[in-house]
Amino acid sequence: MEEKQGLVVRVFRYDPTVDEKPYYASYYVPWREGMTVLEVLRFIYENYEPIAFRYHCRSGVCGACGVMVNGRPVLACRTYVEAPGELVIEPLKNFRVIRDLVVDRRPMLEQTVKLKPWLMRSQRTSGFEKLEWPLEERDKFYLLASCRECYLCRAACPAAEVGFRKPEITRYPGAKFYVRDLATRFLDPREEDKQQRALQLKEDIDAYACTTCKKCWEVCPREFEIPEMMEELRGYIAKAGLGPLNGHIMFADFIKRTGRAVEKQTTPLLELVPEVIDVANPIDEVLFFTGCLIDFRLQKVGLGVIDALRKNNVRVIIPKDQQCCGSPAIRSGLFDVGKAQAIKNIEVFERYGVEKVVMGCPGCLLTWKKNYPKFLYEVEKRQSRLQVYEITEYLVNVIGLDRMNKNFRTVDMTVTYHDSCHLRRGCGIWKEPRELINMIPGLKFREMNEYDVCCGSGGGVRAGRRPVSVEIGKRKADNIMAANVEGVIVECPFCYIQIRDMLQQFYGGKVKVLYLVDLIAEAYKGAESW
Ligand code: SF4
Ligand code: SF4
Ligand code: FES
Repeated sequence: MEEKQGLVVRVFRYDPTVDEKPYYASYYVPWREGMTVLEVLRFIYENYEPIAFRYHCRSGVCGACGVMVNGRPVLACRTYVEAPGELVIEPLKNFRVIRDLVVDRRPMLEQTVKLKPWLMRSQRTSGFEKLEWPLEERDKFYLLASCRECYLCRAACPAAEVGFRKPEITRYPGAKFYVRDLATRFLDPREEDKQQRALQLKEDIDAYACTTCKKCWEVCPREFEIPEMMEELRGYIAKAGLGPLNGHIMFADFIKRTGRAVEKQTTPLLELVPEVIDVANPIDEVLFFTGCLIDFRLQKVGLGVIDALRKNNVRVIIPKDQQCCGSPAIRSGLFDVGKAQAIKNIEVFERYGVEKVVMGCPGCLLTWKKNYPKFLYEVEKRQSRLQVYEITEYLVNVIGLDRMNKNFRTVDMTVTYHDSCHLRRGCGIWKEPRELINMIPGLKFREMNEYDVCCGSGGGVRAGRRPVSVEIGKRKADNIMAANVEGVIVECPFCYIQIRDMLQQFYGGKVKVLYLVDLIAEAYKGAESW
């Protein structure tokens, strides 16, 4: 009875003065409601042996008590242990361990000092200075200045992990440095040398190594919209004439010249299918926004999207005048190119008088959901009635699992699923693909380790900082191989191409990369529409 109320806590232990290597020690701790991880550590310290850990304020302010709990970076004093069971407590990742749970923050402090996080001014001022400081920018400044310097963002960051392990590839230190030390400098009207700050962002922070995966946002106790901030900062680098990188410029030029981000190699999807796919007695009608990669590279995925909709008696319109969503330009800070694409696409899609737009690319989806409303308001001071959905979101939440055509045949395969960052953290879609996977008879699903960690393709990193992208991608390929599956399901064309290349490069392409609509099409083979 007593045992059921307790916690079994495995704690990382390492004292380099006596231990040859780290080990884990287990402790039994009585659980009570409202108990924090910090209280668990203090119980162990007071009742068993002196383990080393840091804390100070005990109220989530000082940022001293960061640790990994069950693989996730948290503040120990603000994290409640919700139920009896098992806990694994480890030091923050991407730091050298000094002892047990205490990590060496000195390199971080040295890097902060190098960035000169104070005002750069040519003259001393005396007396009161009247500042032109818009309220919105001042509020943002104060918010960002409240960063706890806890480094949870660094511990969660796939790019900082590469920087820690292979500093010769990138010096990227994690979000704290651009949020706390540099973004505030751009917002401060007293700061004079913004050119120098842009150079620091590019050279000292390696700003183009951030994949905008939002892992940092997920763990940040201040809930800062960190990747959005990085995109804004990349805009400052572009304005200063120091960026973006060649790979990004190539995409942006292509969009400006052709309306698409990539070159045509084979017949595009838009030329393979008619503009309207009619069905008898439709239950709904949608527009399909393909995105550049599904149109030009992954046509089979586009056909799968159309097939899944058709088999569920949805009339599909595929506007021929659609263009690139503008995401590759926006993620690298070229907002004007993105804005022009937004206005063009909204105008094309509004012509049809149909409100629902379905897409198979989370990068396009995020751009339509987050960037388009803002751009449209800036240019035309209005809102659009178009509503956008990712294909799995549409099938599960609009058609509904109970109304879906389940005339499936068995698909005998063992699969795992990679969460695309833009789909999971960007648009909150992660349950829907899993629900569909579980519906297909014969599919055996195994969750892989780090299923929601970036694959290294996002944020223009594959285009601009390939060595960083490959390091992050290898970690994803390792996790897929460790899951021992025949196929990995990937709901994003950028992740699809990256993961396919990484599995090929490091494991000879032993695992198949699939879109969920490929499997749905397979399961529907021979099935008629309603
Ligand atoms: S968005 Fe991802 S890569 Fe960029 S700082 Fe955050 S965790 Fe790191
Ligand atoms: S940005 Fe957030 S997670 Fe990172 S150091 Fe600041 S408060 Fe901590
Ligand atoms: S002890 Fe200060 S934030 Fe946890």
